[in-house]
Amino acid sequence: MKINDFLLERYFAKYEFEIPHLLCASDCETFSIEEILQLEEGAKEKFNNLKLGYTDSQGSPDLRAAITSLYGTISEENILAFSGAEEGIFAFMNVILEPEDQIIVQYPAYQSLFEVAEAIGCEVKKWTMDPEDNWSLNLEELKDSITPKTKAIVINFPHNPTGKLISKSEFRSILDIARENNLYLFSDEVYRLLEYDSTARLPPACDLYEKALSLGVMSKSYGLAGLRIGWIATRDQALLDKLARFKDYTTICNSIASEFLATIALRNYQPLVQRNLSIISSNLQLLDEFFDSAQILEWIRPQAGPIAFPRLKISVSSKDFCTDLVKNAGVLLLPSSAFLYGDKHVRLGFGRQNMPQALSQLKSYLKNTH
Ligand SMILES: Cc1ncc(COP(=O)(O)O)c(C=O)c1O
Repeated sequence: MKINDFLLERYFAKYEFEIPHLLCASDCETFSIEEILQLEEGAKEKFNNLKLGYTDSQGSPDLRAAITSLYGTISEENILAFSGAEEGIFAFMNVILEPEDQIIVQYPAYQSLFEVAEAIGCEVKKWTMDPEDNWSLNLEELKDSITPKTKAIVINFPHNPTGKLISKSEFRSILDIARENNLYLFSDEVYRLLEYDSTARLPPACDLYEKALSLGVMSKSYGLAGLRIGWIATRDQALLDKLARFKDYTTICNSIASEFLATIALRNYQPLVQRNLSIISSNLQLLDEFFDSAQILEWIRPQAGPIAFPRLKISVSSKDFCTDLVKNAGVLLLPSSAFLYGDKHVRLGFGRQNMPQALSQLKSYLKNTH
């Protein structure tokens, strides 16, 4: 397969571990191995005695049991573990799509959600969010995009990069449209549990529709990106079986040490998510003040997650703006060109504890230059 560069990942590869002030990360503050092991009595001893062999290709039974607690209708056999969410996206696209198929993808999007389909030779129909109307989505447009060649609808809530959540009734309408047209619904839910108002939390798609897949990962809400543990939950057993056969050609199975730590973290996930939500909440207060008086940036306040997608109000492109910012202030924002989405927006991340320092560097830069 020939595939275009993943622009966001290349941008991070260049800067992430070099620059002093990372202000566009999409994950939350992480935890140490020690902190995870302390969550459960006896975990430390078990971890020290783990044998480093291969593990169950589907994901260890303990891990899958822990994952089921996040869903209402899902049991252990409905889960396939992957190495990160990224592998789940790659496997899904490869398993269901043939060249000439069509796929509808909410846009802007994390690039692999459409790029893998394009590399396979499919037509990607972008279902574009409206920046003039609170990043809304038009359901009529979704219906009109469906053709006899459509295989799947791909959605992502809470959304990267806007932090958008739709209403529960809109979410159900999307599921109804998928069901009426017998389409797969690939629901990227990697930022789930990070809603600022928990009553606005959407139900997992896999609980509502037999042909829906819910994508989850340890990286974002739990702050455990380094484990590289993700999963797909679906009641479509035939599809899950095909995904498992595909995985034999990518990673075969996960790291047993990572699966062990992910299991402990998921069995005790509430304090981890709460800690991250409280970092987000205090960072949001600072960002509210910042955007209240910002001259050259404006935002649509996100509703969930650790990221937002503000817009530049000046004529400079966001790429040039970010390049100058990183060069002169050591602060990294992510230009919307990395999302193949124009040149006016930047992604801002606020799930990390050191966000206030990065924000104050950005403020000084803006004071001196604009
Ligand atoms: C919406 C979305 N899906 C999937 C992923 C991939 O997650 P991971 O890096 O944990 O595989 C990301 C990472 O940024 C993401 O934002």
